[in-house]
Parts: sequence; C-alpha cells; structure tokens
Amino acid sequence: MKSFFNASELKKYICLNSCRMTEKDFISQSFQHKLIGGSVTWEAPSNIALIKYWGKIEPQIPANPSISFTLDSCRTTTTLEFKKMETADNNINFEFYFEGIKKEEFKPKIESFFKRINLYCPFLTDYQFVIKTENSFPHSSGIASSASGMSALALCVMSLEKELDPDLSDEYFNQKASFLARLGSGSACRSIEGEIIEWGKHKNIENSSDLFGIKYPYKIHEAFLNYQDTILLVDKGTKQVSSSIGHNLMVDHAFADSRFEQAHRNMDKLRNIFETGNLKEFMEIVESEALTLHAMMMSSNPYFILMKPNTLEIINKIWTFRQNSGLPVCFTLDAGANVHVLYPEKDVVKVFEFIKNELVAYCENEQYICDQIGEGAKKIEN
Ligand code: DP6
Repeated sequence: MKSFFNASELKKYICLNSCRMTEKDFISQSFQHKLIGGSVTWEAPSNIALIKYWGKIEPQIPANPSISFTLDSCRTTTTLEFKKMETADNNINFEFYFEGIKKEEFKPKIESFFKRINLYCPFLTDYQFVIKTENSFPHSSGIASSASGMSALALCVMSLEKELDPDLSDEYFNQKASFLARLGSGSACRSIEGEIIEWGKHKNIENSSDLFGIKYPYKIHEAFLNYQDTILLVDKGTKQVSSSIGHNLMVDHAFADSRFEQAHRNMDKLRNIFETGNLKEFMEIVESEALTLHAMMMSSNPYFILMKPNTLEIINKIWTFRQNSGLPVCFTLDAGANVHVLYPEKDVVKVFEFIKNELVAYCENEQYICDQIGEGAKKIEN
C-alpha cells in the first residue's frame, strides 16, 4: 500500500477494500471544530428480511448473514439540531421529540446508542442536540421502527461528521452510517441504501462484513424489480418479547448451530434465485426463513408464540390462493404477528384484489400498508 495517503484518501482506499475494514477504520480523526451549530434531516426506510438475523454477540455482531429488501413507504424522518457547547463534558447532551412531543421514555435507547458510537464519533460530546423524529407509519402498528429510526439518526450523525470533514467519500459515508446504525439496532444497518442489502460475513459474498450492510453485489433478475410488500397489521399491540431478549435466546438454543448453517446455505441458494428469477424457489426460502424464525422462538427457553390465530389464517389463505391462481405470492414475518405479503409488481392488480377480498378482514381494524422495494435513505434539504 502506498504510504503517502492523506486521511481522506486513506478512507477512500479502505472503502475500495471494504472486506478489510475493521472497527478501527471507523474512528473519526480529530477535526478543527469550526462548526458552531446547524441542523440536518434524513428520511430512512424500514426493511424486511428475507434471510433473518436472529442471534448476535456483543457488540451487535450477527450470528449469521441476513439479507433484506429495503422498503419505500415505511420511513422515519429525523432532524438533528446541533449547537457547539461552551465547555464540553464527557456526556452527550440531547432532547428527544417524537411526533412533536418530548419523550423521556425513548431517551435511554438513544443514550446507549450515543455511548456506543462515541468512540467512533468523539466530536459528539462537543455539541448539544435536539432530535426530532416522526414515522410515516402509525406508531402502534406493531411495525418495528428501530431499523428506520436508528438508520435515520446514524445518517444525521454522519452528516454532522461530513460537515466537519467535507472530504469524506460517499462510499465511506454510507458504510460508516450503516456501521453506526448497526450499533443502535442490528437490522438498522440494512436501512441505509436500497434495494437489496446483505449484512454479515458470508464466504461467497465478496466484501460482506459483520460490521455493516452492503448493497447486494450480484445480478438481480428483473422479476424482482419493484417487488411489492403489503403489510397486514394483524396485531398492533406492544411486542411480547423485545428483539434483544429474542436474540439472546439463541445463545444456548438447542438448534442454534444448524440454524446458523442453514442461513449460510440459504444465502447461496438465493444468489442463484436472484440471478435466474426462479420465484418458486424464492418463495420456498422466504417462507421457510419466516417459519424457522418463529420455530426458533417456539423452541427456545423460555418459549414464545408470537403468531396469532389470524396470522395462521392469512398464511393458509395465501397458500390456497397460490395453489388456485398459480401466482407467485408468498409471506414473511418479523418477530411478531403481522404478515408481509410479497409479490411481483406485474401481478399487483390480481393479488391486491385477493388481499382486499380475503385477507384484510383478518387485520386489526382492517389496517394494512402498501409498500414495495425502495432505493434507500434520502437527505432532506432544510
Ligand atoms: C426478526 O435488529 O430489531 O426482524 O439488533 O437487538 O436491535 P437488535 O435487533 P433487531 O432484530 C431484527 C430481527 C428480525 C429479523 C431481521 O430483521 O433480520
């Protein structure tokens, strides 16, 4: 390696060789700190995993690789206002507003996020912050907002870093945003870019890393263009089991090793599926992953059933419709009762008719969200 790179050239070099990135490469240099104050806004999407992340070790290192569709309509918009403090202390000072209302109860999660990322962004202690955030989807919809929320905040922090160090390359910016978002919530690292994001080291995916998500680097068949995700809100109640507790259940899980190996194998299979557009095999992997996730929860100690009777009714209806119509409609699930119905754009009319006529009745207050694959987060110019 040439020895005369300056810091930003070095970062560019490292990005091009991202498989070699380590935690140390994300520690920002010290800046001149000329920035007195300002404000940045980012809108970041949610994502839906096809191969599930379930199981992790500190600090948020996944037990297996996962891959997701970045969504489009389900988004969090976050504004970070910052003002340089006269005298910095070692704490990160902030106020937090959710949908215009000051929310003390959300602060501990943000506080531990800031503590975790402070090593990589030491400039944070020089400022005081006001964070204002809102979601495009209803708050109590049972849709996890941690992926879109943490990625939006991580992007705001990166915009502040970029103002302090304008030479940062776009590639490094996105990679570090994903790295920081991961420290807030694992799946959030897959919510920076679109359209298909892989996270976690896999021997056959070049540049894959446990530290951040990467844009899926291989061929994607046109069948997946604008793939649809209609989210059926079966149960909008609060989660029975937080994802951190859920991930921990994999630590001594009897089936953990075979589950982790299965995820690696499924990733290999998906590569071929994405290339050929074989939707039959795609649906088999996606549904098997969803059911395996729930099987892991049902067979852990303690055990949980997060599906509701209506979740199963919907799954059975989807299977019958698929059999009768021959259309490639499948489902996936998160760690909850809601059902994501996935299908190609070309079948939208017929499938949506089916959803309205046969599935919406199983949703709480008949609520659902129409979404599709999206292109990733957007900076909003203030
Ligand atoms: C079931 O990312 O919410 O949605 O890292 O503890 O914040 P933490 O967990 P989180 O876990 C998401 C799990 C999942 C599957 C997935 O999105 O891959």
